[in-house]
Amino acid sequence: MRPFEPSDIQGNVVRGYDLPHACYLHAAVTGSPADAVALLRQLGTHVTTAADQAEWLARRRATVNVSFTSKGLAQFGLTPGEVGSWFPPEFVAGMACRSETALGDADRNVPAYWEWQNFRPDLLITVHAPDPATLDRKVAELSDATASAGAHLELQYASTIESKRGRSRREHFGFTDGISQPPLDTGSPLTANPIGGLPLAGGGWAPVPAGEFILGLPDLDEDEPALPCPALMHNGTYLVYRKIEQHVGAFQEWARAAGASAAGQMIDADPSAAAEIIMAKLVGRHKDGRPLVPAASPLGSLPSNNFRYEDDPYGVQCPLGSHIRRANPRDALGFDGALVNRHRLIRRGMPYGTPYEEGAADTDRGLIFVAYSGSIARQFEFIQREWLNDGDVLGIGHNTDPIAGTSAEPERFLVPQATRSVLFDIRADRLSQFVQVRWGEYFFQPGLAGLTWLCERGDEVSRHGSGSGSRADHETAQSATAAGSPWYDPGGTG
Ligand code: HEM
Repeated sequence: MRPFEPSDIQGNVVRGYDLPHACYLHAAVTGSPADAVALLRQLGTHVTTAADQAEWLARRRATVNVSFTSKGLAQFGLTPGEVGSWFPPEFVAGMACRSETALGDADRNVPAYWEWQNFRPDLLITVHAPDPATLDRKVAELSDATASAGAHLELQYASTIESKRGRSRREHFGFTDGISQPPLDTGSPLTANPIGGLPLAGGGWAPVPAGEFILGLPDLDEDEPALPCPALMHNGTYLVYRKIEQHVGAFQEWARAAGASAAGQMIDADPSAAAEIIMAKLVGRHKDGRPLVPAASPLGSLPSNNFRYEDDPYGVQCPLGSHIRRANPRDALGFDGALVNRHRLIRRGMPYGTPYEEGAADTDRGLIFVAYSGSIARQFEFIQREWLNDGDVLGIGHNTDPIAGTSAEPERFLVPQATRSVLFDIRADRLSQFVQVRWGEYFFQPGLAGLTWLCERGDEVSRHGSGSGSRADHETAQSATAAGSPWYDPGGTG
């Protein structure tokens, strides 16, 4: 078994950067393969790894990470046969193709309404920085580099929300975010605190095997998961990018009306307090991050993540349809979490747009949702389709999540109470959706050795026209792989 190699894994996966400013540079390479390789080599010198991220953060440097769409891998010399047989179908197809089928997106969430129509990038270059000036300098440097490789660029900026008390961890609806992340079992001291990992029978937690997120490492199924091209894929991960607009005014307006109409039926009769409770019930935590179910004291400055739903089977404290209980049901589905454990996500998103001001119109603001996983289909797509866009397996019928649901299913939200439950028909009441998908894509983020492998493959393509032979040779060799052809060396060049 290969050890955990932080110097080969790109940064922000094992641990978040926790930096307040980011820019996502989506690049479509239009120059020659030689230009593309030159660009990649240049980018490679900037890339931040899991091993050096702490030092970069301490020195207030901008971090840089690079990932590829399936189209982008082809730009760097992989044949369609290689992309199609080495990578899973959802990644090859991309998010736009999977939106209505595998994710259950409907209404104004579907690609026909997205920004950047007809634009599919090859690369995503992500820059994080401690301050706007450092961000701007790095973005300018990388924009020049991509321009000289003939790339077309689309930029998306994001930053944490500034409040009177400084930068916060809140998203635009006003809730503290980024609290619950799966603690990774890397076999190293990084795994000191397993809270919020895999719920153990009888209490306690185990860390989540790193292979659930990082390719080639032990996962919950196998100690040594096989990879079709380890030289490219080992220590890589899949990055899901989804721009989700949040209609904060509509959310608050609905909550105010719901608070007024339900005040008499909620524990607290005051309409504005009832509105706050209803919003917390939708999310599953209070705005300051405190969970709705009793939790053991937090470790450090973040609100507690040390809770389960075993003593709240009917959702009297945290409704079954609340966002966090849907997105990670923990022990709520029984079998000590076995139906949940393989559907976890590392979330590294950040808000974009200016903060909402009371009474103002809803404009383009929301969340750049970024998540890492070892399988986009089993993790992100499953969560979005089965748990957020539908609630059947959670025992709440075909109702969608009002916070992050994107389907055409109803949005009936039940707030169970000990004496009298309250049912809200959100879709019927509100004037506009609370969220809308504006764009999205799936990326593969290789390890550092994988990036070098891609450069070498790109060089080969530039020299010979198409990799180690013609494109037809690659297709033939690909089909020979199954027959055990010696051309195929899983430990070598692929
Ligand atoms: C605009 C859209 C969204 C908003 C405003 C939002 C907001 C939040 C908030 C406030 C939390 C609680 C803080 C925390 O535990 O870290 C949370 C947790 C979470 N969200 Fe979202 N979210 C959004 C979209 C999504 C999407 C699209 C997914 C996945 C497909 C997702 C998956 C999760 C998960 C897995 C958790 C942690 C649950 C737990 O472990 O208890 N979220 N989100």
